[in-house]
Amino acid sequence: MGQYIIEGGNRLNGQVRVQGAKNSALPILAAAVAVGKPCLIHNCPDLSDIDATIKILRSLGCRVVKNGDMVSVDSTGLTSNVISECLMREMRSSIIFMGALISRTGEAEITAPGGCDIGLRPFDLHLSAMKKLGVNVSEKRGKIRCTCKRVRGGRITLSFPSVGATENIILASVRAAGTTVIINAAREPEIADLAYFLNSCGARISGAGESVITVEGVDALHSSQYAIMPDRIAACTYMAAAAITGSSIIADGVVLSHLAPVAGCFEQMGCRIESSGNKLRLTAPERLKSPETVRTMPYPGFPTDCQAIIMSTVSVAQGTTIVCENIFENRFKHVAELNRMGTDIKVHDKIAVINGVKSLQGTAVNATDLRAGAALVLAGLCAEGTTYVRDIHYIDRGYDSFAENLTALGAVIKRKD
Ligand code: UD1
Repeated sequence: MGQYIIEGGNRLNGQVRVQGAKNSALPILAAAVAVGKPCLIHNCPDLSDIDATIKILRSLGCRVVKNGDMVSVDSTGLTSNVISECLMREMRSSIIFMGALISRTGEAEITAPGGCDIGLRPFDLHLSAMKKLGVNVSEKRGKIRCTCKRVRGGRITLSFPSVGATENIILASVRAAGTTVIINAAREPEIADLAYFLNSCGARISGAGESVITVEGVDALHSSQYAIMPDRIAACTYMAAAAITGSSIIADGVVLSHLAPVAGCFEQMGCRIESSGNKLRLTAPERLKSPETVRTMPYPGFPTDCQAIIMSTVSVAQGTTIVCENIFENRFKHVAELNRMGTDIKVHDKIAVINGVKSLQGTAVNATDLRAGAALVLAGLCAEGTTYVRDIHYIDRGYDSFAENLTALGAVIKRKD
């Protein structure tokens, strides 16, 4: 398994171009199945999760061509609505194909999805929503079979604003007979991006990005070209890289409003944030200050995907930070690894208490999931000596050209496969 070897203690400067959003690109590529006509997707990041999505698309009979950051998907000649267990297990967002396949063919056969081990990650809300849309759902020996003549619009109230469930409902209902209303929908910007893409193909979705989303079913969709929005989690990661090394960098290609909850946190740490158009400069103080309690919440709250990244950053701040993880039960696996590098972090249940230390020491650590891996790389950037971050295949799921981008900013980081 590959590793990153990082020589810590270098200041960063310069500009980094932020990649397209993983969490938009994955559902949008799956959505091309529902569209049923050729789609051209721009600003698609180069990630192993994108490769896994392309494998699923090809297994269903889609023609897919990847050329730089452009991915064309032609699902006209779809030949299957069954996804094998081995492909389903490659990532969590494979579950989104359920809604897309039902929408297109009235049938789907899938298994439980895989993904980073950050908690139970059930999908009961997805299945009960499909049933509300008139889909028959049966489960036998780990296989989930969904069938219906045509999806029927309905009113669905989610007990939790699940991102994945909201996406599946939008996809399943986009070509339904009648109108679907989703109440307590997830408000993440990636939901709005999916809706904008589908609307560019002739869908009639309103309210995406808000708590109530209305999907008026249409008979058919048409071809479209669409550019994926910038990745707010990658942007936060580069901001954290500047903060933890006491540096000043520019992140290019960001949507500042998407970063509001994390920007506030960096400002509390004493960082200065200036923005102009789609560029943002973060300038860190000599020593960071601990921010107020960080609580992960559904958007527009503080994103769970930034929790590990911020924890690593505040581990060298002056003072004590409390982090409360409210979304996933098992999302503190990075703590044991960070403590090996000299952080002082204690965890009780969903609370982590981080007493800031003056410095970290490089050592060998293991990435335990995607964002945990990024958090360890950040710690390595400011640590004394050499840090070896192993199991970086997790990081490859979500970061395009991570080492190259950090190197261009002045970090000393090498990849060894
Ligand atoms: C979550 C994040 C999303 C992030 C993504 C990738 C939230 C609200 N969602 O999305 O921002 O980009 O991970 O890391 O922060 N749940 C159920 N039953 C279900 C579905 C979900 O109980 O059927 C629960 C989960 O256990 C979890 C919470 O709802 O506690 C959030 O899940 P959900 O938003 O669905 O997760 P993802 O779509 O993976």
